[in-house]
Amino acid sequence: MKIMLVGSGGREHALAWKLAQSPLLTELIIAPGSDAMTSLGRCLPVGAEDVDGLLALAQTEQPDLVVIGPEVALAEGLADRLVKSDIAAFGPSAAAAQLEASKAFTKDFCQQHNIPAAKSSNVETYTDACTYLDTLPGPYVLKADGLAAGKGVVITDDLTEAKQAAKEMLAGQFGAASKRLVIEEFLSGEEASLFVLCDGKTAMPLVGAQDHTRAFDGDKGPNTGGMGCYSPAPVLDATMTTRVMRDIIEPTLQGMNQLGSPFCGVLYAGLMIDQGNPKLIEYNVRFGDPECQVLMRRLQSDLLPALLACAHGDLDTLPDLQWDHRPGACVVLAAKGYPGTAPKGSIISGLAKAEQDSHVKIFHAGTKKSPSGEWLANGGRVLNITALGDDLADAVAKCYQAIEHINWPEGFCRSDIGWRAL
Ligand code: AMP
Ligand code: GLY
Repeated sequence: MKIMLVGSGGREHALAWKLAQSPLLTELIIAPGSDAMTSLGRCLPVGAEDVDGLLALAQTEQPDLVVIGPEVALAEGLADRLVKSDIAAFGPSAAAAQLEASKAFTKDFCQQHNIPAAKSSNVETYTDACTYLDTLPGPYVLKADGLAAGKGVVITDDLTEAKQAAKEMLAGQFGAASKRLVIEEFLSGEEASLFVLCDGKTAMPLVGAQDHTRAFDGDKGPNTGGMGCYSPAPVLDATMTTRVMRDIIEPTLQGMNQLGSPFCGVLYAGLMIDQGNPKLIEYNVRFGDPECQVLMRRLQSDLLPALLACAHGDLDTLPDLQWDHRPGACVVLAAKGYPGTAPKGSIISGLAKAEQDSHVKIFHAGTKKSPSGEWLANGGRVLNITALGDDLADAVAKCYQAIEHINWPEGFCRSDIGWRAL
């Protein structure tokens, strides 16, 4: 079977690594992929956001399935256009991708379908933002409506600061994505993410994970795309997973069907669980990055038939997926400056030594190879150090032991991944 994978980050490196192990795979092409992925598949220079280029590539290559990693191409209708060309796609239509691409859409949707979520208001003017903020007790949570690479959320205790943030966001801090804002009440509790495979009719929960979204230790500093994670998330046990499926996921899938936009792909529910009560913080319509890296480490079954079943609508016939019972962790190495602008091109060494422990696997999120064969930083989030361990503490320790072998003065990582669970 020939598979085309779209994307170039750590998530796609992990998906490519897992797909490459499938006995069903005959050829893997990756658009655009990265230097770290060339040993896993044929990388072709078409950008992950170039929907026209990706469609043309798929029409030429005629893969049996296109697996779409990142959200932007989904929101712009890549899956719709592939399906129209009779090419199977793993990933939702643009209409269903609104669950991630418009937080305002999702808040309205949750209200209509009685899905538990934070009380909120969608606003488009500074006056309306201030009026609503004045009714809230704080801390204040402001979110850009549209896609902002995980960075479009501001949380502050200070009302004046919240109003200033609203002003800046509405003035275009995140471009068109923040012309409309969701302002919502602050939720306390334990966060966790559940990933669910969907084929439009059937939903199959995968395992849970817990991300660390803030840049610095102690969950301080600006929001990022994710600085590390672990799986499973202790708070998301079997009982809680059943509850989330019943109260949040099933009504969502039914509601999307009623809208004529069935969801196909992986639905990622960001949850806040307080005293046993789960609420939806947000939806994403693709695998989490770096959560996917840990999920792929823990998944023992073949990934390929699972993704194919979502695209073909026969997830009900897929045997249960098997997972490694050992916990997994991921620590992200980012370039100093991230989530702001981070310089590229610094040399990274020691990766082979870091990967000598067979429990450790490194996925590349933003690197390239120099002509002389050195690894160079080539992004904000640069490396994902993953490990499986006897318990979570062991998995995390193995990640940090591996990092000690990596020589990259221009990089940084959090030193406390997993601290809430530990
Ligand atoms: P989001 O992009 O909506 O997932 O928000 C990013 C992060 O901000 C989440 O992972 C939470 O840590 C935090 N967050 C978002 N919304 C809320 C909320 N209503 N209350 C508390 N924390 C929140
Ligand atoms: N790690 C958070 C995300 O993928 O959105």
